Amino acid sequence: MLNVPSGFLWGASTAPHQIEGNNVNSDWWSQELHTPGMELSGDALDSYHRYREDMQLLAEAGLNAYRFGVEWARIEPAPGRYSRAELAHYRRMIDEALRLGITPVITLQHFSTPRWFADEGGWLNERSVDRFRDYVEAVSPILEGVPWVCTINEPNMLAMLSTLTQSIQQGDVSSWQSPTVDGVEGGTQPVLPAPDPEIGHRLGRAHVAAREVLKRTTDAAVGWTIANQAFYAAPENEAQLVHERYLREDLYLEVSRDDDFVGIQAYSTQEIGPNGPVPHASHPDNTMVGTPYRPGALSVAARHAWQVTGGTPLLVTENGIATSDDARRIEYTREALAGLFDAAGDGVDVRGYLHWSLLDNYEWGHWGPTFGLIAVDRETFVRTPKPSLSWLGDIARSGDLEQSPAAETPA
Ligand code: BGC
Repeated sequence: MLNVPSGFLWGASTAPHQIEGNNVNSDWWSQELHTPGMELSGDALDSYHRYREDMQLLAEAGLNAYRFGVEWARIEPAPGRYSRAELAHYRRMIDEALRLGITPVITLQHFSTPRWFADEGGWLNERSVDRFRDYVEAVSPILEGVPWVCTINEPNMLAMLSTLTQSIQQGDVSSWQSPTVDGVEGGTQPVLPAPDPEIGHRLGRAHVAAREVLKRTTDAAVGWTIANQAFYAAPENEAQLVHERYLREDLYLEVSRDDDFVGIQAYSTQEIGPNGPVPHASHPDNTMVGTPYRPGALSVAARHAWQVTGGTPLLVTENGIATSDDARRIEYTREALAGLFDAAGDGVDVRGYLHWSLLDNYEWGHWGPTFGLIAVDRETFVRTPKPSLSWLGDIARSGDLEQSPAAETPA
């Protein structure tokens, strides 16, 4: 049995661009249209209209929290022009979650930005800090009753992504690489460049500016969410590990020292050698995004974040596996949770576990990798819960990690 603190959040996460559909005013939409090799998000899962059904499935399974985002590109279609209708739409989502007894965890920015913002230079432009602050100020009135707000998703990935986006805008489409997919074809991982620390520090300023607004205008606990990569050193590469881990992760965790919580997002591990990240070798156990099967990554991430932040409470805002085998998802999650609660037993303050993802969604340039607790038919938009959804709900209800999953319902 898990020793689950009262008020612990059990749920799942999504991001607007990956599920809503037709996010036509965003930088990602235009990139998808113009970059060879990228699949289109299109209608996505039409969650923009079907969010009630998504939340209901989550609540019926026994989960009590849902992390979802509000989409900047919809809320601010032109600089300083805010859509009251879109703000009302997201307020309806928050109300629906509260009505169903689900704690909403709201992300304000998850990779995609308005197209005009990208045209201004995106996060490469210092003005982005003020732009983001103004947007957050406009969103804050709809956040009443929301206990958890994540300002920026994975600033460490975003810092890297911003450089890639910029080169694409300058016409160098060959540089496009999905930030989250390593060698889907089963080859070795193309190593992503290190995030530019200058952009990282700017994102830190944007986060702090947003935090000031939110602390003044809402009662929410405020944090941001970090891609935790459970780095480890190849033999005799300890110094390189410290250097790379700082650039790719610790710089961002340090910003969280003054936050109410830090969102941790762990999937796999990454070895560091003399030239930085070592490409993952092909292995039959690798996930659909090319990463090694490493459920222990969550506990490594939790302990590391706890240490670097000096004791900021943790919320697992993402953890999961890209697999077409749901039994494998259950085994992965079972082991990840065992490690997480071991860390909690050793004194790490963990406030919740939100699985990535609620739905099989658009994986940033690809539809292939499936992370969801719920399958979605992309033609009819029919949702089919997988056994992992009720299994996770049963753990949330009972705290018993040894639960067996229910048999799969035939389609
Ligand atoms: C992102 C998600 C993504 C997931 C799985 C994280 O990097 O926040 O948007 O889908 O990992 O790759």
